[in-house]
Amino acid sequence: MMIRRHFLLCGAASVALGTRGHAQPMPGMTGPHNAPATQPPGPPQGGLVLPEGEPLRSLPRLRNTSGQPGAFSATLVAAPTQLQLAQGKVTEILAYNGVSPGPLIEVTEGDQVTITFKNEVPGQESTIHWHGLPVPADQDGNPMNSVASGSDRTYSFTLPADSAGSFWYHPHPHKYTAEQVYRGLAGAFIVKPKVDPLPSGLGDTALFISDLRLTPDGTIPPNTDDDWANGREGEHVLVNGQKRPVLTLAPGSSRRFRLFNACNARYLRLAFEGHRMTLVATDGGLIAEPMAGPEEILLTPGERAEVVVDFGPAAGRVVLNALSYDRGRMSGQNETLAIPVLTINLEGQPMAPIVLPARLRTISPLGAPTARKRIEFGEQMTNGPSGMAFKGLINGKPFELGRIDLVSRLDEVELWEVANPTDMDHPLHLHGTQFQVVEREQGGRTISVPGPTWKDTVNVVRGGIVRFLVRQDMPGLRLYHCHILEHEERGMMGTLNVR
Ligand code: C2O
Ligand code: CU
Ligand code: CU
Repeated sequence: MMIRRHFLLCGAASVALGTRGHAQPMPGMTGPHNAPATQPPGPPQGGLVLPEGEPLRSLPRLRNTSGQPGAFSATLVAAPTQLQLAQGKVTEILAYNGVSPGPLIEVTEGDQVTITFKNEVPGQESTIHWHGLPVPADQDGNPMNSVASGSDRTYSFTLPADSAGSFWYHPHPHKYTAEQVYRGLAGAFIVKPKVDPLPSGLGDTALFISDLRLTPDGTIPPNTDDDWANGREGEHVLVNGQKRPVLTLAPGSSRRFRLFNACNARYLRLAFEGHRMTLVATDGGLIAEPMAGPEEILLTPGERAEVVVDFGPAAGRVVLNALSYDRGRMSGQNETLAIPVLTINLEGQPMAPIVLPARLRTISPLGAPTARKRIEFGEQMTNGPSGMAFKGLINGKPFELGRIDLVSRLDEVELWEVANPTDMDHPLHLHGTQFQVVEREQGGRTISVPGPTWKDTVNVVRGGIVRFLVRQDMPGLRLYHCHILEHEERGMMGTLNVR
């Protein structure tokens, strides 16, 4: 741990060379003129080296055991698994069906989904939460419906029309969510539309991004007080479980990427070196029209986006970087250098770029709200047995299992105002439905948000406010919380009763 700290200090020292967020390219690095500085090659002193540069694996799929059309049945077992991640070291992780990220669940909208979950995590209850999917409250893996260690339960739900998109699943038990996720439990859940408006020639590449911290002996260490306060960031950023893998594409290709941020706390400010993206989907699926042009996309923990990238006709390599983002950590370092997460090798016979359709989907605005709610994040440092301990609050209170904090009427359109007067950014996530962000307020300025688009997680910058429209269509208990999982677990969560 001392060694790691030493590395962080060295890393911080090297930032002085460039302005934060606009760091200078490292000497000897090549690439487009706007290439960001990346982490110096080689491992942190004394740290573990994970293999890099292997071909990108596609996520293994969860096999559908139902023989019926329109039905998907499978079993997911959460259990410890031993892996060799670093040469000569054994790492014990938690995995769904032996793999991390968990197997990709791919279904079609309209499908009836039945998944039996076996909890073999020793000594800890668990659940599976279907992040972003419109599933009934009692099937949504709430902490109040936990599955004891050694037992199982079956989740079943039907995915309605117009629910296609990139979602994910992860545990949500009271007190163990952060730990179970950073130990490896999380997977992608893709709902395909009956007819995809995007041309199939774009391909479909899921990039499920997580991070991992390993001690020099190869084990995953528990959270420190700093982690509980800031959120845990592992030093190894992984794509589909691999460190800096390589994807080979033909020059000139247009490619569709599904981007998932499954990190506990790391903000991913993603940029393809020298290439702009076209945004085609947010958390809740396709947007109305492709939005051409962003050079980067900020994905906070829990968020997803789909983009299309047109790679030019030249052969060569393009790096997908996670650029530095200052989210206002209260201690420790904000990431100050870009982290290369994926390399794209452009080689072979050139292909012609693919033109996207002008319209992708119809999204109707939710309309005028007839009720309002206000959520306010809060932080508290209390003196604990091991020093200062972080406590997260929403509307002045830490989470309490079983307490109802807010009530919404079924099918009523509400305007939620989420305020963050703290010194750290917090991504708000709401269960049960997708919402439409209408405006943000930052530094006294109100910025309207283009849309409508469907979101289930939205960043609320420190000192800022986000307003969104939402309507819950299913009754029952729903959670809302900061998706920095350490904050959620330390109290930054509340319960909404929809009735
Ligand atoms: Cu992705 Cu309540 O969580
Ligand atoms: Cu969720
Ligand atoms: Cu938070």
